[in-house]
Amino acid sequence: GTARVTIDPDFGLGTVDPRLYGTFVEHMGRCVYTGIYEPAHSTADEHGFRGDVAGLVRELGTGLVRYPGGNFVSGYHWEDGIGPAEDRPRRLDLAWRSIETNQVGTDEFLGWARRQGVEPMMAVNLGTRGIDAARALVEYCNIPGGTAWSDLRVRHGARDPHGVKLWCLGNEMDGPWQTGHTTAVEYGRLAAQAGKAMRQVDPSIELVACGSSNAEMPTFGEWEREVLHETYDEVDYLSLHAYYEEKDGDRAGFLASGAQMDAYISDIVATADHVRAVRRSSKRMKLSFDEWNVWYQSRFPGERALPLEETPRLIEDTYSVTDAAVVGSLLMTLLRHADRVAIACLAQLVNVIGPIRSEPGGPSWRQTTFHPFALTAKYARGTVLRTEVSGPVIETRRHGPVDALDTATTLDPETGALTVLAVNRGQEHDLHLRAALRGFGARYRVLEHLMIADEDPDAANTQEHPDRVTPQSVNGTRVSGEGELEALLPPVSWSIIRLA
Ligand code: AHR
Repeated sequence: GTARVTIDPDFGLGTVDPRLYGTFVEHMGRCVYTGIYEPAHSTADEHGFRGDVAGLVRELGTGLVRYPGGNFVSGYHWEDGIGPAEDRPRRLDLAWRSIETNQVGTDEFLGWARRQGVEPMMAVNLGTRGIDAARALVEYCNIPGGTAWSDLRVRHGARDPHGVKLWCLGNEMDGPWQTGHTTAVEYGRLAAQAGKAMRQVDPSIELVACGSSNAEMPTFGEWEREVLHETYDEVDYLSLHAYYEEKDGDRAGFLASGAQMDAYISDIVATADHVRAVRRSSKRMKLSFDEWNVWYQSRFPGERALPLEETPRLIEDTYSVTDAAVVGSLLMTLLRHADRVAIACLAQLVNVIGPIRSEPGGPSWRQTTFHPFALTAKYARGTVLRTEVSGPVIETRRHGPVDALDTATTLDPETGALTVLAVNRGQEHDLHLRAALRGFGARYRVLEHLMIADEDPDAANTQEHPDRVTPQSVNGTRVSGEGELEALLPPVSWSIIRLA
């Protein structure tokens, strides 16, 4: 079939915030230890962080990294992770029933983030702790000196303040699994007061309140409304989390996960705007989609079933070509909501459902999902253009009818460069993309068409075959004399087409 879209520079819907290409490092499994950090590794720098992983993180192009959790943060004493490494306690981490050695803490992570050139997004513990620990952490991180906590940081070797701008007020506090799980009203009050105290320490910070853990939570919708009612004036963002997987062999539904994410974002925008109306506020709440990914959650036994170990292998999902198409499509969904979604974090960065994998003492490699993320982060910048698709439709059990073509376009207003992202969600037929380039003064030509596709949609990258799936250059994609972009998209494929 043929799918048609019209691309017009006058149809801008929002600007891509570089924070949309965020990721997430949690003290979970092997994300930190033997992930980003492994002092005994042959590539480790003088701080103990892996050089090979650092290189892949740079190539991934993530501009923001959330830390230190996740569920982990809800039992975390951040004071355990500062000062001389040999004095730090070994703690039982309640979230993942692991032994936390605290060899990496606030100063180590923030130092790594600075060297990587990424912005940190920190979370405070509103599960077992509260206002006092939260404001002390902001003081430790952001006050230059002359107070007890800031002088302690200086004594620990971090002379300059870390200047952390973005702060999450707890994590998934609506979830019964969360240490300190509570009601929306109680959480909202605590978040507002903790946020206020944190801003009293540093008025320049930005705050994220917890939304629902996913759209299937029984309190979904009401949780957001009640939390925002308590926190509206105090916070800058409301969080969303979502993980997608193939269920009951319904691959068509899985490939259409973007439609589910799209509805989720629209519902939260409506809920936030309802609270805005009720409060007669002029402020439009922005959204922080600070955990999203493909995660085969149904394969996870649950944290209670885990043996008590140090650095266990947890949820090290291996991603396929199909998963890469879904990740690419979820990124397009985020881009199409760039007017409200200002922050997003692919969860997580290394090993734990990560686009990067690493072995202790061994190599590191790019999962299939690495590629759509890296290329989107690199080239989908500037203004997101509104596009409507008309073409073949796929019937799905989970989401009803969805377009076979998923697409998003960005225009760099400075260079005029156009980036067209496209997924063929169909599993059987090629899709002919016809995009009318309308209203552009100049004639475009195709610089490059890169694609992730494979005869085997389950093909994956492994330690033995780390480059089994890589982006392939496509010939034949062109702009016709009539100014129409023409491309052929094979089944279950992700494409990036760059025009200049
Ligand atoms: O990313 C894994 C876990 O998923 C996080 O710790 C938690 O916030 C979410 O439930």
